Amino acid sequence: MSLPFDLVSDTNRVCAERLAQILKNPGFVDYFSDHMAHATWTKTEGWTDSRIENYHALQMPPGTAVFHYGQEIFEGMKVYRHSDGSIWLFRPEMNARRFNRSAIRMDLPELPEEDFLTSVHRLSRIDEAWVPSGQEMSYYLRPFMFANDEFLGVKSASRVSYLVIGGPAAPYLADGLTPVDIWVTTQYSRTGDAGTGAAKCGGNYAGALIAQREGADHGCSQVLFTDAATHTWIEELGGMNFCVVTRDNTLITPPTSGTILEGITRDSILTLAPDLGLTVDVRPLSAKELFSKALDGEIREAFACGTAAAVTPIGRLLYSENNQVKTVPLPQPLGEATRTLRNALVDIQWGRAEDTHGWLSEVRQSS
Ligand code: PLP
Ligand code: COI
Repeated sequence: MSLPFDLVSDTNRVCAERLAQILKNPGFVDYFSDHMAHATWTKTEGWTDSRIENYHALQMPPGTAVFHYGQEIFEGMKVYRHSDGSIWLFRPEMNARRFNRSAIRMDLPELPEEDFLTSVHRLSRIDEAWVPSGQEMSYYLRPFMFANDEFLGVKSASRVSYLVIGGPAAPYLADGLTPVDIWVTTQYSRTGDAGTGAAKCGGNYAGALIAQREGADHGCSQVLFTDAATHTWIEELGGMNFCVVTRDNTLITPPTSGTILEGITRDSILTLAPDLGLTVDVRPLSAKELFSKALDGEIREAFACGTAAAVTPIGRLLYSENNQVKTVPLPQPLGEATRTLRNALVDIQWGRAEDTHGWLSEVRQSS
C-alpha cells in the first residue's frame, strides 16, 4: 500500500516577515523550512508511519547504528518557482531511482518510487512559501535514510528512518557564474573499484573532506578526484560531475562505470549538448591529457555540473607535483559552450524555455 505522507503537525510556521528576510539571503540551505517528511521501515512491517510534521530535532540514543557505521544514503534535488508563481521539480523520478540504487548498495530497504515522489511533492507543496522567486534561487530538498537500530554489532539495519527536509538555496559555488578554482588531488581517493562511488552515501563525502580542506588551503572551492588504483584518470568532483569542451566543440566527460555518481545534471547536459552543436564523447580522460590540452588550448572550457551547482564554470586547475603547486588556467572560463549549456538547462528548470523532454514535474499550479 502506498504511503500518504499526511500533514500531522502544523503548529509552528515561521512568520511572514522573518521568512521574507531569510529568502533575501538564504545561503545554501542555511535555514530549514517549517516541515519535514518522515517514514519508518522495519524488517517485520516494511514501510509504515508516514507523515509530514513540523521540522524538529530527532531524539536518538547514542547507541544508534548510523552514528557508528554510517549506514546512510541521501539525495539532493531542487524545486523551482516559475515567473507565473507555479512551482516544479526537475526529473524527480531519477532521484527516486538513484535513491534505490544507493539503498541496494548500502543494504538499506528500497523505498517504492511512488512513495519517494509523494514525500517530495507533499513537502514542497506544504512548504511552498519557502520556494524563493529570485534569480538563481531555489528550494533544495534533502531526502535521506539511515539505520535507526540501537545496536553496536556490525549488521544491516532492521529499523530504518526515511526523512525529507529542505530549505531555500542560492547557488552552491560562488554566484554560479563566476569561474571557480579546482584542486586536483592525486593523494586521496573518493572511492575505489567495487566501492561505493556510484552510491550517494554520507561516507563518500566524509572521506573526501580532507582533500577538500587541502584544496581550500590552496584557494580552491572543490576537489577533482582521480581513480584510486593509478591516480591517472579523472573521475569527478567531491559533489559534482566534471566536463570539458575542446576547441572543436567536443564535450568530454568520463564514463560513470561504478566509481562516479550518475549525475542527473550530467545526464541532462549530455542529452542537451547535441542540439547545441556539441559532439558528446564519454570517454576516460587522464589528468595528463587534461593538463597538457588545457595548456596548449585544445581543451578550452571546463565546468562542474550537479543539482546544487547547476553548471559552474572552472577557471583554473591546481595540483601538486614534486611538492610544488602547479596552476593550469582554462583558456576560456565561462566560454560559449559552458554558457550555452548552462542557459539551456537553467532556462528549462526556471520555466524560461520549453520543456521538450518532459523533465519538469508540477508541484503547484500558478495562482
Ligand atoms: N557527483 C557527486 C559526488 C555528487 O554529490 C553530485 C550531487 O548530487 C553529483 C555528482 C551530481 O549529481 P546530480 O546532478 O544528480 O545532482
Ligand atoms: C547536490 O548537488 O545536490 C549534492 O548533493 C552535492 C552537495 C555538494 C550539495
